[in-house]
Amino acid sequence: MADLLLALDQGTTSTRAILFGPDLLPRAVAQRELPQHYPAPAWVEHEPEDIWSASLAVLREALERGGAGPRSVAGIGITNQRETTLVWDRATGRAIHRAIVWQDRRTAGACARLRDDGQASALIAERTGLLPDPYFSATKLAWILDGVAGARAAAERGDLCFGTVDSFLLFRLTGGRVHATDATNAARTMLFDIRRGAWDEDLLRLFRVPAAMLPEVRDCAAEFGATDPALLGGVAVPVRGMAGDQQAATLGQACFAPGMVKATYGTGCFALLNTGTAPVASRNRLLTTIAWQLGGRRTYALEGAIFVAGAAVQWLRDGLGLIAEAREAGALAARADPRQAVYLVPAFAGLGAPWWDAEARGALFGLTRGTGRAEIARAALESVAYQTADLLAAMEADLAAMPGAVPAAPGQGRVLRVDGGMVASDWTMQFLADLLGAPVDRPTVLETTALGAAYLAGLQAGLRAGPDAAAETHWRRDRRFLPAMAREEAERRLAGWRDAVRRTLSTPP
Ligand code: G3P
Repeated sequence: MADLLLALDQGTTSTRAILFGPDLLPRAVAQRELPQHYPAPAWVEHEPEDIWSASLAVLREALERGGAGPRSVAGIGITNQRETTLVWDRATGRAIHRAIVWQDRRTAGACARLRDDGQASALIAERTGLLPDPYFSATKLAWILDGVAGARAAAERGDLCFGTVDSFLLFRLTGGRVHATDATNAARTMLFDIRRGAWDEDLLRLFRVPAAMLPEVRDCAAEFGATDPALLGGVAVPVRGMAGDQQAATLGQACFAPGMVKATYGTGCFALLNTGTAPVASRNRLLTTIAWQLGGRRTYALEGAIFVAGAAVQWLRDGLGLIAEAREAGALAARADPRQAVYLVPAFAGLGAPWWDAEARGALFGLTRGTGRAEIARAALESVAYQTADLLAAMEADLAAMPGAVPAAPGQGRVLRVDGGMVASDWTMQFLADLLGAPVDRPTVLETTALGAAYLAGLQAGLRAGPDAAAETHWRRDRRFLPAMAREEAERRLAGWRDAVRRTLSTPP
């Protein structure tokens, strides 16, 4: 019987496939690193063929490691780094330019012009829930259409396809038969009306994007097509789930009820708070996004996106050589002199929510002659917690202004569910709980992104119940971190952080 679920998680720095049992427990994992290309300062690209070959390799390897044939797979779930933009030839499947990665800032000038244009900004906010920033796909797509000779005319003829990574992988997996995406990925393009659930003609006009190149938008659990039998052992395996990685993690964390919030610590950190069936417009510079779409019905989330989290630890390792392996960072930070107030503002790719400053660049504050490796490592880990605190404060402020919103438990604070590589560090998670003054819950399965994609495929295959079913849960707690720091101390540190951020902004407030 086909009852296994195969998740493909194509992330910014790595590609993983995880084979899950029908109980949603992982059975086998395969992973490949993804090479990064930096052709100019603040530009980031991926080679589409690297994305594809790694994806296919990990799918095959996970099946092999799990001792499972493709016939035992009830469905594949695709989840992916969002916003990263690809354009490929419909006939050959070959990309016409490298993928422009979400972190890439090359369109900062175009976005600044959009921000100055009140009408355009208002249109973008109202339709997409986003704000003009190079982070999203639209300006990256416009850049490719303008920059590659003949691209716009070919796109108008319908010869080119646009897609985020999910869409590109689906196209390749189905042997070029299906050009589709799901509503969560579409919601990150800055071309999609998140209220109507449709591509928006006014935005297509604003960014001069031909409609003929857009993928069809489907539910997150749907029949996306079957894989080309030549790819996986002669078997056509159905692709049945699709969601952007942060939305998949929200499902993996079982944040099914309005008011529940999760934060995922990968390259960046992304916090999503379920706001139910109505989109909530943020007054605090957060994003409004689609958490999932099932049976044509959308659940929305408020999202805070910060661009550098795990990447700060990578910088300690690769940029500064302070540690040999990422997992050493916590132990080194724990040895830091507690009297030194050193702050790292890791604006390596500008600052995301709630600051949105594409031109800001990283800075270290509070250095003295006594500052050493340990203090810098601590500042890097703490910067992740400080940024999370900024996001959650903005979320609470939005919710406070929202009638009928789910309040945090009095005196306890809103529980934050965490996942991703960095949450293995107890030191970082304790500091996070201390700063937030709220419990931080770490689940037993930390592969929540892949888990969410497998869950969607399982839902479509009829193996799992929908997220509205109160009884449905695949979530187990490993550990709860409770705040232990005095509130005045946490506030004093937060004030120091906000002062450091203010001094880092490209245009001081
Ligand atoms: O929006 C970008 C996000 O989807 C990337 O996630 O896990 O690849 O850093 P990750």
